[in-house]
Amino acid sequence: MPGALRGRLVTLEGIDGAGKSTHLPWLAELLAQIGRQMWVTREPGGTPLGERLRELLLREPMAHVTEALLMFAARREHCEREIWPHLAQGTWVLCDRFTDATYAYQGGGHGVAATLIAELVFDVPVGVGRARLADGRSLDKFERQQSEFFERVRATYLARAAADPKRCRVVDSTQPLAKVRQQLAAIFALS
Ligand code: TMP
Repeated sequence: MPGALRGRLVTLEGIDGAGKSTHLPWLAELLAQIGRQMWVTREPGGTPLGERLRELLLREPMAHVTEALLMFAARREHCEREIWPHLAQGTWVLCDRFTDATYAYQGGGHGVAATLIAELVFDVPVGVGRARLADGRSLDKFERQQSEFFERVRATYLARAAADPKRCRVVDSTQPLAKVRQQLAAIFALS
């Protein structure tokens, strides 16, 4: 881990279908408008190797611990090659999921454990997330999980947010788009 990281790492989290991907480009634009140099990325992914690992992770059945290890392998590559250099230059990194996802999915969902960093939790009840996912396209390995899995994932996100309120903010993502954006802007003291 490099010494001086001048930028900030902002991560968006939530169960599949929580709506974070809808809000991510908007939030990036908002932060850019107030003069932040932004770099937008996602996990698993964000590097050529990370994107190849993503393909495997989202399609291939594997042991849950293997899944957690590959998430961290992709993350290390992402940090070394992209995230740390950007932060060192003072760039803000906006990342669609990060370490909290491993806690929530592999830890809460599948019963494995892992480490921590920064997050925003996009919160919707599991039923809402599942309904939003049913948009006709074929679902990936995680999205095909039963509701009970997503109840555990969501509970883990919320427990992590409650345990670390300075680091995490929970956004009620059942609200209309404009309301969600109001909440996001308020978190960044932009409203
Ligand atoms: P996405 O659909 O939000 O891009 O995320 C891809 C899937 O990967 C999503 O179903 C959650 C899952 N995931 C984990 O299980 N553990 C992790 O550490 C990360 C980053 C994602």
